[in-house]
Amino acid sequence: MLDQSLFLRALNKKTNSVPPIWYMRQAGRYLPEYRAVRSKFKNFLDMCKNPDVCCELALQPIDRFNLDASILFSDILTIPDAFNLGVEFKEGEGPVFNNPIRNIEAIANLPSFDPQELSYVYKCVSNIRGALPTSLPLIGFCGSPWTLAAYSIEGGSSKDFAFTRNFISENPKETQHLLGVYTDACFEYLKEQVLAGIDAIQIFDSWAGLLGKEDYKVFSLNYINDLVQQLKEDDVTKDTPVIIFARQPKGGIEQLSACKPECISLYWDESIEDSIHILKGNTAIQGNLNPLILKEENSIIYNELKIMLDKFKDYPGYIFNLGHGITPDINPDKIKFVTDTVREL
Ligand code: CP3
Repeated sequence: MLDQSLFLRALNKKTNSVPPIWYMRQAGRYLPEYRAVRSKFKNFLDMCKNPDVCCELALQPIDRFNLDASILFSDILTIPDAFNLGVEFKEGEGPVFNNPIRNIEAIANLPSFDPQELSYVYKCVSNIRGALPTSLPLIGFCGSPWTLAAYSIEGGSSKDFAFTRNFISENPKETQHLLGVYTDACFEYLKEQVLAGIDAIQIFDSWAGLLGKEDYKVFSLNYINDLVQQLKEDDVTKDTPVIIFARQPKGGIEQLSACKPECISLYWDESIEDSIHILKGNTAIQGNLNPLILKEENSIIYNELKIMLDKFKDYPGYIFNLGHGITPDINPDKIKFVTDTVREL
C-alpha cells in the first residue's frame, strides 16, 4: 500500500502526474484547532511530551486538507532537552535554555545520551502511525547537529547568534566534540523513530546560513554527512529515505548533495532552474513556494504556482512544499486553495 504513496514514489525519483503535497509546520498556530489544544499547556515542550495530544495535532492538517504526508508532531529541541540543557518555550520569546553550553567545561561535562529519555517521541510516532491510513506516509525528523549546537551554545534563539559564532572560532575542537556527540544522538533518535514507524526522515539545518562556505563544511556538512552515513549503514534505517532542508547554506545545494540524501528541500530563495541543473534528476527536490505569498490574493498565488509547477514539470521526484514553515498569521483557507490548485494544475 505504502509503496503506492505519491510521496514515497517521488523520494524514489519516480515521476507522478500530480505532485505529492505536504507543508513544513502544517500543524501549528495558524490552525484554530491547534490553538485550542495549545492553550491548555503553559510550556510548549510539555505538550510535546504528551503522545496522545501530539497524535491529535499531527492529524489536524491531514483531516483538514487531505495531504500526502504526515509529519511527527514534536520539535528539534527535544535532543538538547534530553542532554539536561533545560529547554523551555516562553511566550513570545521562543526557546530559552536554562543550562546552555556557555563554556568548554559544559561540553566536557555533557551527560551521555540515553535515547530512552525521548521515549515520549517514539510513543507519539507509534500513535500517529496507528491512527493514519496505512497508505499515508509519516515523516520523522531531527535538527542538524550544527543547528542543535547553535541553539545550545547561544542559549536560545537570536538574530545573528553572535555568541555562538565567537565561541566556535575560539573553541573549534570542543565544538567539534559537541557536534560529534549530537550526531550520534541524532542517529540513535532517528533509529528509534524508524523502529516506531516513520517512513521518511527530514533533517533541518535551519541555521546553515550562519556559517561561511568553509566553516559550513567543518561545523555542519561533515556532521550531516556522518549522520546520513550512519543511517545508510544500519540495517534498521538504511531503507528510510532522507530529506535535507538547509536554510541559505553558503556553499549552495551542490555542497549538500555530496551527503547523498534522497531529497533536498529548497529554501524559498533558492533558484529552481539552478537546482534542477545541479541535481539533474539524481536527487528528488522538495519545495519551495515563498510562505509570504500565502498572504496574497488567490489570483496572485495561482500565477506563482503555475510558474513554479511548470519549472518542475518534467523533474523526476518532485514534492510540493513551501520554502520554509507556515507562519502563524496565515489563513488556513490559503492552504486549502494552494493544495487544490496544485492538484488541479
Ligand atoms: O507540522 C510541523 O512541522 C510540526 C512539527 C515541528 C515543530 N517544529 C513544531 C513547533 C517541526 C518539524 C519543528 C521543527 C523546528 N523547530 C525547527 C526547524 C524548522 C524551521 O522552522 O526552520 C526549528 C528551528 C525549531 C525550533 C523552534 N520551535 C523554535 C525556534 C520555535 C519558536 C518559534 C516559533 O516558530 O514558534 C519553536 C516552537 C514550535 N515548534 C511551534 C510548533 C508548532 C510553535 C510553538 C507554540 O505553539 O507556541
